[in-house]
Amino acid sequence: MTDTVNVAMVGLGFGAEFIPIYQAHPQANVSAICRRDEAKLNACGDQFGIETRYTEYEDVLKDDGVDFVHINSPIPDHARMTLQALDAGKHVMCTVPMATTVEDCRQIVEKVRETGLKYMMAETVVYSREYLYIKDLYEKGELGEVQYLAASHPQDMNGWPEYWERMIPMHYATHVVSPCLGLMDSPAEAVSCFGSGRVRDDIREKSGNPFAVETCHIKVKDRDLTAHIWRFLYDVARQYRESFDVYGTNKSFEWTLTEGEHHVLHTAGKPEPEIPTKVEIPDFAHLLPQEIQRFTLPAEIHDADHLSFLQGGGHGGSHPHMVHEMVSALIDDRDPQPNAVTSANWTCVGLCAHESALKGGELVRLPEFTLG
Ligand SMILES: NC(=O)c1ccc[n+]([C@@H]2O[C@H](COP(=O)([O-])OP(=O)(O)OC[C@H]3O[C@@H](n4cnc5c(N)ncnc54)[C@H](O)[C@@H]3O)[C@@H](O)[C@H]2O)c1
Repeated sequence: MTDTVNVAMVGLGFGAEFIPIYQAHPQANVSAICRRDEAKLNACGDQFGIETRYTEYEDVLKDDGVDFVHINSPIPDHARMTLQALDAGKHVMCTVPMATTVEDCRQIVEKVRETGLKYMMAETVVYSREYLYIKDLYEKGELGEVQYLAASHPQDMNGWPEYWERMIPMHYATHVVSPCLGLMDSPAEAVSCFGSGRVRDDIREKSGNPFAVETCHIKVKDRDLTAHIWRFLYDVARQYRESFDVYGTNKSFEWTLTEGEHHVLHTAGKPEPEIPTKVEIPDFAHLLPQEIQRFTLPAEIHDADHLSFLQGGGHGGSHPHMVHEMVSALIDDRDPQPNAVTSANWTCVGLCAHESALKGGELVRLPEFTLG
């Protein structure tokens, strides 16, 4: 039984944001950092006082002092880096998505099962204060029976690193899949997705995806429930939004249309004008060790100019919750949430959705290995 764990941070754009949180966590150390650009690696190491620095990922994996890697590299590298880390005996926390092919998801799930190592996909949405608020309402029975869920993630990626131009909207869908399935604590069973509109020629050629928008229905396994999600990356005029709506028999939660406005709670059985109420979302820092509670607040975001914070709404104060989930799972020797199977299901919803869109909306079943 160990009482502290050593993490190596890999990829130091968005990834650097987690360093001060791990450093403040009473049961974690940042023992090493890794990125390819040596000058930027050294700047980061100097800034946070971290001596062990690697430009080669393979050297991180040879370091016996590293218990787990927290991967924040570009999306095309997630699966390869995860599989390499598991082969080297390291636990893995990896930013979303788990992978961009069903086969890579399968390999990760199998390797986690074979090795007994832990895997967590660092999905920000299911640790955001809005999600924790809705989950609290649901668990207290205030929503009643859930009848329908909906989530949207429109995001104009012009100006982001070039690899986004090769991405397919539904291949980065976990921010909309995860709240729907996470709240219901059930996997997806099948999806039907349509493509809509057209992206400009250069994006279509690079990504192989012709659609501007992908819009998908998810059948939740063993429940009379459907969720609807939609996404775009280019060529649609809309402010960034990561929304989540839940419709219950007693109460329903609807996300604000524009950033910075109040979300709305609708209550059944009231006179029509009184049905909607604007809500203040409480913070859930009290769930965390005292030393990292302050990191739920926007003021503690280290690099507030990083595009993912300008467009990401600060990720709802989720970063310290994710850090604590992975660290405490390792210390308690339990699976973190989302574990490998759940992460694969959430990721494969998007992969199967794109397959469905290419087949004109045909129903595509989620692979068996993602169903738990
Ligand atoms: N809300 C969220 O969950 C959220 C928000 C922002 C970013 N992300 C994810 O985080 C990841 C990084 O995003 P970003 O905006 O910081 O990207 P970025 O391209 O700015 O940074 C990527 C980093 O990875 C490093 N890197 C790339 N290849 C490497 C290799 N082979 N070995 C070691 N380091 C390597 C780069 O040097 C750089 O530091 C992406 O996968 C993105 O999807 C998730």
